[in-house]
Amino acid sequence: MLIAIEGIDGAGKTTQAKRLVRWLKSEGVNACYTSEPTNSALGRLIKKKLRSKDLDHRLDALLFAADRLEHYYGCIEPRIRKRQVVVSDRYVYSSIAYQGALTGDVDWVRAINKWVPAPDVAIYVDVSPEVGLARLSSRKISEKTKYERMETLSRVRELYLKMCSEGLLIIVDGERSIEEVQGNIRRITMDALVRAGLLEADTAGRR
Ligand code: ADP
Ligand code: TYD
Repeated sequence: MLIAIEGIDGAGKTTQAKRLVRWLKSEGVNACYTSEPTNSALGRLIKKKLRSKDLDHRLDALLFAADRLEHYYGCIEPRIRKRQVVVSDRYVYSSIAYQGALTGDVDWVRAINKWVPAPDVAIYVDVSPEVGLARLSSRKISEKTKYERMETLSRVRELYLKMCSEGLLIIVDGERSIEEVQGNIRRITMDALVRAGLLEADTAGRR
């Protein structure tokens, strides 16, 4: 099973995804954490470009899609085949939201990502750009990405919210405490695991 954790910069995705994996493991579920952009050669190139000023959003979209293709078939799918629960810190909806907003062509971004399947569950951690940026403000300037701007993140958030209203992602309020957000994410995950037969309903009911 593939669970994607999505949201704008500073939403708390990494914090939540890592906690979720720790908790799943403690419950005896064979789970692992992964993230995009990845640490492959392509992923490293993307990370370098994210810290540059160049603004060819079409090229970025193609690079993210290529990195994802390699990530899915080289890493995620083999783990799913071994019945692992893979929690991905960002996946295809990041491209639709970010590169969709920046190129203005959501359909094209969807099309270049059509070679990877949708996740089984996608959770959108919602925060306002003000909150996201404030949480990241202590990071070093050199670590900031070119998307960390109020105006960009507002447009990205709008696209995420639209996808939530279309039923593609399940929204959780990311402005609550880390523990509250985690509780909501665990509930959504548990339901999905029970439905997939990876967790007993009565075991889940005890929590
Ligand atoms: P993302 O991966 O979405 O960019 P992180 O998980 O790296 O976000 O979190 C960014 C910063 O915000 C970190 O310093 C983290 O400790 C803090 N943070 C995460 N979630 C919350 C929360 N619910 N409330 C307050 N601070 C949070
Ligand atoms: P990430 O390392 O998850 O940053 P953060 O922890 O701040 O959320 O992602 C780096 C940047 O890459 C982030 O600004 C979002 C962007 N991104 C895209 O624009 N499209 C994509 O498909 C992905 C995976 C990431």
